[in-house]
Amino acid sequence: MTQTLTLLGIESSCDDTAAAVVRLNGAHGTVLASIVAGQTALHAPFGGVVPELAARAHAEKLDLCVEEALAAAGLSLRDLDGVAVTAGPGLIGGVLSGVMCAKGIAAGAGLPLIGVNHLAGHALTPRLTDGLSFPYLMLLVSGGHCQFLIVKSPEDFTRLGGTIDDAPGEAFDKTAKLLALPQPGGPSVEAEAQRGSEKAFRFPRPLLDRPGCDMSFSGLKTALLRARDAVVAEHGGLPQQIRADLCAGFQAAVVAVLAEKSRRALAEYMALGPAEPAFAVAGGVAANKAIRAALETVSVEMGARFLAPPLGLCTDNAAMIAWAGIERFRSGARDDMTLSARPRWPLDKTAQPMLGAGKKGAKA
Ligand code: KG4
Ligand code: ZN
Repeated sequence: MTQTLTLLGIESSCDDTAAAVVRLNGAHGTVLASIVAGQTALHAPFGGVVPELAARAHAEKLDLCVEEALAAAGLSLRDLDGVAVTAGPGLIGGVLSGVMCAKGIAAGAGLPLIGVNHLAGHALTPRLTDGLSFPYLMLLVSGGHCQFLIVKSPEDFTRLGGTIDDAPGEAFDKTAKLLALPQPGGPSVEAEAQRGSEKAFRFPRPLLDRPGCDMSFSGLKTALLRARDAVVAEHGGLPQQIRADLCAGFQAAVVAVLAEKSRRALAEYMALGPAEPAFAVAGGVAANKAIRAALETVSVEMGARFLAPPLGLCTDNAAMIAWAGIERFRSGARDDMTLSARPRWPLDKTAQPMLGAGKKGAKA
């Protein structure tokens, strides 16, 4: 008999309030509705996400997003089989808002509750979009996360390495701030970089000289700051072409680090002898064309299929939470009213904890 499951997903771990309805039909997942209410304008005057403001905005918007998602799917609470919610990692106030909202809906409608790890949501997305089979390699690369994971099952993740300080998206955002470009920094730095020469400035490629898949991006922004100050001292300002060159040099350094570390992660993954080798990316930084192209080249060279889910499912959303909930639900997992919000929640319980916590939330 074909199994059909319909779950509501709720996400509020950072600066996006999101609700979605996803249906499993046989082996195939379909996004029936996905609503995302971003908070970019709310935090813009502060140059970064303000956790207290984020939490309050989530609390105000969550029920509206849920209503909107159900309406867009043409369903009511009675049509659902369960409620999945991000229970961490992330900014604790936001995660709490989501968990409380999900508990209220589950208790009120008599539905099962499933707590989902936000990172598992990202990591399982290629199974929703492409039905990818285990094991596959995933690079999660966003404003708050940067790690390589071998995804072996919905509950089994091996972290091969990750950033020891800033996430790449954070580095793009800080670069934009230093060069007076608009936030979020990724798209504006990428646009500038297209007009610049990556040979004009040579920025460091941190940790490339060390074995393994760990990365570091905080030194890059310091190097960029020094280069900018030298330009300003020499020219009495920042000429437009030099700003574009700085962006191109910065982006080339990020591309080089991500490409080389991906090569190493792929080598470790391929050594497992996967039947259908695949390398997938997720996270907002995966929108960057230069990064995406470099990762695809490395992947193909190493003999793995390359996948980048559509952007709306790469960046924070609730469809990935509903889907990860479906994966847990069908393996029998259920939570109850004791489900707690966890600011830190590493996917790989055996891996050493990573250092630091970015402005966009805890790096697990
Ligand atoms: O996944 P996401 O929406 O949120 C989390 O951080 O969880 O990612 C947002 C990050 C921001 O730091 C943004 O600057 C970066 O992704 N980003 C990009 C690009 N588009 C978004 N970074 C580089 N190039 C881009 N085109
Ligand atoms: Zn995320």
